[in-house]
Amino acid sequence: MLSTENYRKAFIEYLDEYSEKKEPRNLYEPIEYILRLGGKRLRPVLTLMTAEIFEGNYNKALNAALAVEVFHNFSLVHDDIMDDAPLRRGKETVHEKWDLNTGILSGDTMLIMAYQLFETYEPKIFQALAKLFSKTALEVCEGQQYDVDFETRDDVTIAEYLKMIEYKTAVLVGAAMQMGAIVAEASQECQTAIYEFGKNLGIAFQLQDDYLDAFGDPKTFGKQVGGDIIENKKTYLYLKALEFSNEDDQQQLQHLFSVSPTDTSDKIETVKQFFVSTGSAEATKKAIETYTNKAFSLLEDLKVSEESKSMLKQFGETLMNRNV
Ligand code: IPE
Ligand code: IPE
Ligand code: MG
Ligand code: MG
Ligand code: MG
Repeated sequence: MLSTENYRKAFIEYLDEYSEKKEPRNLYEPIEYILRLGGKRLRPVLTLMTAEIFEGNYNKALNAALAVEVFHNFSLVHDDIMDDAPLRRGKETVHEKWDLNTGILSGDTMLIMAYQLFETYEPKIFQALAKLFSKTALEVCEGQQYDVDFETRDDVTIAEYLKMIEYKTAVLVGAAMQMGAIVAEASQECQTAIYEFGKNLGIAFQLQDDYLDAFGDPKTFGKQVGGDIIENKKTYLYLKALEFSNEDDQQQLQHLFSVSPTDTSDKIETVKQFFVSTGSAEATKKAIETYTNKAFSLLEDLKVSEESKSMLKQFGETLMNRNV
């Protein structure tokens, strides 16, 4: 087993080899741009790590890891269009740096590139990877649609929110891990167990993403702080703030989330104060911990070494305490 950091290094080296200068430049340059912008690379690291946890060789999982990362970056390019986001990883988003059409087509291309990477696997593994990938990619689109639908709804429930983040984010984390298990030819039982672990970690991860969107440090966060508030996103923070408010505050909060002012700084400040004063910020932190611990408890029955379990736990803990 390598350390998390070394899996990341191995992945980035592989990614560098993969990004070749292709024509037309207007299609491929934005792809190279977003793939090289950095990011935490957590999904591909999980794919490589999982392959080795199930006694495979991480080298064999590199193409699956790359497919997951290329797909993830495709989803970000389109997500930034949908969320009208100006910043990604501290730099301009693709549709801002180029234009909307570039974001659409370069994004589409990345989705195909991701699928193409599975062609390197033998038929049995190829089929398992492609099947999991198709299912996951459809769920991500469904989650993204719910996310957008919720912007204009005022009756979203916590259960609906949890389903939305499970689809838009958590299933890909689960699938990234299951792909490592598939490449290592782990049993179906092990595959399901590691998928469930990844999924619960993914739910905690999206809750944390929502938390940081409001409370992250603009100097280090890399995205526009308050972006979810500007877009009227029905996050856990928002839904819990409503639940914990009296009727007057509920009305004010709901009103704030039905308007789109040109100057957004007042709206962001007021909403953040609500998140803190109602106790919803605290409740969100608790929920992050709960889902992380739920993931950890799923490790107990997993048939892998203690060393592997502690590595996965460490990874989960780092995620829970991140500020990017
Ligand atoms: C951002 O994912 C999108 C979400 C699902 C929250 P990451 O936070 O993993 O983004 P990068 O790749 O590290 O930039
Ligand atoms: C992203 O959710 C989910 C996908 C990209 C599929 P967000 O919209 O919260 O992600 P960020 O915050 O822009 O990274
Ligand atoms: Mg977004
Ligand atoms: Mg989004
Ligand atoms: Mg977000």
